[in-house]
Amino acid sequence: MLLNVSKAVVVVIGAALLAGSGKTVIPTAGTPVELSSWNAPHSAWKKKNPIPMSAASIQAGQAIFSQNCEACHGADGKGDGPTGAFLNPHPANFTKASFWAQTDGAIFWKITHGHSPMPSFRDSLSRKQRWNVINYMRHAFDKK
Ligand code: HEC
Repeated sequence: MLLNVSKAVVVVIGAALLAGSGKTVIPTAGTPVELSSWNAPHSAWKKKNPIPMSAASIQAGQAIFSQNCEACHGADGKGDGPTGAFLNPHPANFTKASFWAQTDGAIFWKITHGHSPMPSFRDSLSRKQRWNVINYMRHAFDKK
């Protein structure tokens, strides 16, 4: 695990140098927001969250978040988890309004695909688990 992470860090630092600085574009409604060089495709943006926001979904999502995401993204979602400190780029801060300018569909796509050093959760979490964790994140971290 440690070896994998350090390899991933080397790859990511190299990629970041090649890609240059990411830019931030705040969208008009319905337009993909460019937070970094990592963007979900337009088709993913249009996908609706099929799981209604409910106490049960939020509770299920919280358990998923603490087991799978917290080490990097931090319990408070600020990207300051114990493992996250060693990663480049740092894990995303979910308390920023610019993060929530994305649709649930775009966030779902990113969780599904991952982006080194962020792992893909396509195989380790079911679709329902991925939507539940988004409901939890929106409930806990979207402060607008
Ligand atoms: C090994 C550390 C790690 C784990 C575990 C991890 N992430 Fe990440 N995550 C990252 C990093 C690093 C980035 C930034 C990647 C980039 O910008 O290229 C990121 C980015 C993201 C993004 C995109 C942020 C944006 O600005 O659009 C989302 C969404 C996300 N993570 C959700 C999750 C969820 C949900 C989980 C748990 C199911 C999770 N992550 C687990 C490290 C991690």
